[in-house]
Amino acid sequence: MNLARIAFLLRAVAAVAALATVGVVSPARAQTAVGSLPRIVQKEGRHALFVDGAPYLILGVQVNNSSAWPAMLPKVWPAVGELHANTVEMPIYWEQFEPQQGHFDYTVLDTLLTQARQHRVHLILLWFGTWKNGSGHYMPEWMKRSPELGTHIVDAKGRPLDSPSPYAKAALAADIRAFSALMTRLKAVDPQHTVLMVQVQNEPGTWGSVRDYSPTAQRLFEAPVPAKVLAAMNKTAGPQANWQEVFGADAEEFFHAWSVAHYIGQVAAAGKAIYPLPLYTNAAVRDPINPGRLPQYESGGPTDNVIPIWKAAAPALDLLAPDIYLEDSARYLKVLELYRRPDNALFVPESGNKREFARYVFAAIGRQAIGFAPFGLDYTGYSNAPLGAAKITEELVAEFALNYKLLGPMSREIAKLNFEGKLQAVVEEKGKPSQSLNFGSWTVKVSYGLPQFGWGENPPGNPEPTGRVLVARLSDNEFLVAGFFCRVDFQDSTGKQRQFMRVDEGSYQNGIFKPIRIWNGDQTDYGLNFTSEPQILHVRVGTF
Ligand code: DGJ
Repeated sequence: MNLARIAFLLRAVAAVAALATVGVVSPARAQTAVGSLPRIVQKEGRHALFVDGAPYLILGVQVNNSSAWPAMLPKVWPAVGELHANTVEMPIYWEQFEPQQGHFDYTVLDTLLTQARQHRVHLILLWFGTWKNGSGHYMPEWMKRSPELGTHIVDAKGRPLDSPSPYAKAALAADIRAFSALMTRLKAVDPQHTVLMVQVQNEPGTWGSVRDYSPTAQRLFEAPVPAKVLAAMNKTAGPQANWQEVFGADAEEFFHAWSVAHYIGQVAAAGKAIYPLPLYTNAAVRDPINPGRLPQYESGGPTDNVIPIWKAAAPALDLLAPDIYLEDSARYLKVLELYRRPDNALFVPESGNKREFARYVFAAIGRQAIGFAPFGLDYTGYSNAPLGAAKITEELVAEFALNYKLLGPMSREIAKLNFEGKLQAVVEEKGKPSQSLNFGSWTVKVSYGLPQFGWGENPPGNPEPTGRVLVARLSDNEFLVAGFFCRVDFQDSTGKQRQFMRVDEGSYQNGIFKPIRIWNGDQTDYGLNFTSEPQILHVRVGTF
């Protein structure tokens, strides 16, 4: 090692030590090497969130809306710990962050960073800015008191609606200033990248009206469709063609999506120019099978039908993410399909917290998601029933904790295998007691509801659809298998009989699989049976 290199290393060590003494780096664990920014990487249509230069799987949880206050955090961290989450999604409230115009209050942000480091988790910050669920409720009071700042849209009858205008230039400028202040602060105080991503706004758009009908909106609606939108939607039209002429029945909806996305795109771009963390916006999804027509769903947000418009209008956003509370599994899975696109990394920032939703993290992973987070699992006493459970209990948290207990120690390996296209995963659906995973020379058979001992009758399915499993191909005849409440077996494509050459149960420690025992006899004679035990198998199969 030459002298220059030694000097450089000494400087780096001194810098980290200095940061630790001022409390910026947790002495317990510096989460991410200074300098390597989290980023979304795309390869052959698959995506990964790179953290510390390698794929990372977000095993997340989102806190309730009013839970990111320091006084509430003692009721948040126990649930995070029990869940074994590695990432927590926490709102940053504009009204708290900028209580007086131009005066930014960093105390809550700084507390979140400090406590996240103490609890050894990463954060995703949710910028509750101009839009929160289609309204502007998180705008600071000084904005709400200034009609020229907190402009509302008006419906077709000219009545003001509880939804911010995407044409309000002063509000946009204020949001850009505040979001820029947030990103500036983050850049300064988070060199170890405790924060992995930032969500820009929350479920933006408008409930109750397809679009704004103000004179400004009307003028823009009658103006030519921007060339970017035409290209994004594969439309050819004359340069003067307006929204109605180009898009007919969809014109108003597409116009509102463009307007909202254009506004948020500018907020995101300003933040990204300061500190280029991955940014995204979430969608209140529409029914993916029978969407119906507006106003049955929120207009203007990144619903599945307007993803290309959002991509064109807001290129600073790295991805558009679905919030999924749909009960029906076919609909839930369809939403995952719609947001898993070559131009969009799949990430589920909110998923329902009823117990039957626990299995869906496997469905998301099976579609190469970079992460997943059930909503509202904290002990602050609030529950978003009927969307979720009537009460957040330790028993409910334990249902979700099963997943992360199993996946946590191998989350890096899963993210890597997924990025390489080697992993598949499925969840049980009501009325579908068996499923197949095609790995070419091997088909993996998954069945639900069978006893552990004996071949059993046709699989009946579990009493509730709780089954879930992931399978990754490690080499031609070697697989990683892990799951709950299911039986897994292998079928050779040439029609020969399979035999288990060796089945190791073990755990991952620092990226290395450490076997603890070999499964055989009752444990393998009828297939590999997964129960509520978090068990990881390395399986070598052969034929005879
Ligand atoms: C979706 C929103 O994004 C969340 O902030 C929250 O309001 C849930 N709906 C419902 O609890």
